[in-house]
Amino acid sequence: MYRVVQWSTGNVGRRSLRAIVGHPELELVGLYAHGEDKRGRDAGELAGIGATGVRATGDVEELLGLGADCLCFNGLFSDTELLARFLESGTNVVTTAAFLTANHLPPGERERLVEAAGRGGASLFGSGINPGFMDMITAALTGVCERVHSLRMTENVDCSSYASPGTWEHLGWGRPLGQQRIDPSSNAMTGSFYDGLDLIAGVLGVELEDYANETEFALATRDLDLGWMAFPKGTVAGQRTTFAGIFDGRRVIELGVVWTMADDLEPQWPGTRGYSIEIDGEPGVRASVEIRPSAVDGVALESDHMDLVMVATALPAVHAIPHVCRARPGIVGYRDLPLFGAAQSLSGG
Ligand SMILES: NC(=O)c1ccc[n+]([C@@H]2O[C@H](COP(=O)([O-])OP(=O)(O)OC[C@H]3O[C@@H](n4cnc5c(N)ncnc54)[C@H](OP(=O)(O)O)[C@@H]3O)[C@@H](O)[C@H]2O)c1
Repeated sequence: MYRVVQWSTGNVGRRSLRAIVGHPELELVGLYAHGEDKRGRDAGELAGIGATGVRATGDVEELLGLGADCLCFNGLFSDTELLARFLESGTNVVTTAAFLTANHLPPGERERLVEAAGRGGASLFGSGINPGFMDMITAALTGVCERVHSLRMTENVDCSSYASPGTWEHLGWGRPLGQQRIDPSSNAMTGSFYDGLDLIAGVLGVELEDYANETEFALATRDLDLGWMAFPKGTVAGQRTTFAGIFDGRRVIELGVVWTMADDLEPQWPGTRGYSIEIDGEPGVRASVEIRPSAVDGVALESDHMDLVMVATALPAVHAIPHVCRARPGIVGYRDLPLFGAAQSLSGG
């Protein structure tokens, strides 16, 4: 059994916690809570499952002192110094916040993590569904190609039930045009999309020469009050961004996101919801991935589409835990770990 500390019980963290408690190789030993109202409460109560005997705390020293095998970090913002402290204490880290390669962190932060991991003999792995898992899937699909000319993966999601005000406020949504942050130098959340470009380029055996991004914003055409956040008429409530990787003077990899809070924004962008992959090559490959509710009675734990996207964000990191605990020290990615999936999770029905 690997002993795990869970960091936070937000949209992603609640799903991680539930999966950790239900995982036959993992034992929950500690839980961090940022919110004062969560501290002292049982982890099971915060995750909507039965009591675990583990109570949430805001005491980082107490959590470090547990000497856990792994920290599962699902805080709103990544925190290099915090992750480095866990790594140098010998605790491996998996995270959904901002990590794949750490190539696009602010200066010095990658080095700090690598040094800490080396000192503690620990490893760090970061992936959600996107960035993360979908980059890996896109890269893997090139495995049937004799030649690859270019490829594109696009995430198109209705985010109206992604109740993460911190995320949208950080991106500058709900405010008039001109106050948004997309450049990775000013936006901690977009750097890992560039890491996704690097991951795919690495599988193709090349190093990208340059990067580009283009972003358009869509505005609310009426006052949108989603209960968890308001997007007044005329403010940003949608975004379409393409992150591009350039090789040999050409845009060879494009990673796109289309995120919207309503269907009647201005402008409206055409496209199919879900994840679509287009590889132009010999042969070309087209694939789509849809996150959807289970049709089988007794399997479904959740049914709302965005709730299931949150499950799909949490699980790549949770499933990685045993492998990350056995990996070489340092920052590790999909290419450093064995092929892994939902081990021992087959359910009845
Ligand atoms: N790669 C992907 O596919 C993907 C997809 C979605 C999200 N993510 C990332 O996963 C992480 C978690 O996302 P989420 O949707 O779970 O986020 P969230 O629910 O909005 O926030 C996560 C937790 O952060 C803490 N928090 C809230 N406001 C805070 C503030 N102002 N300052 C510091 N901490 C605050 C709370 O912790 P407590 O619970 O401890 O009170 C909250 O539960 C984020 O880094 C997000 O960017 C990745």
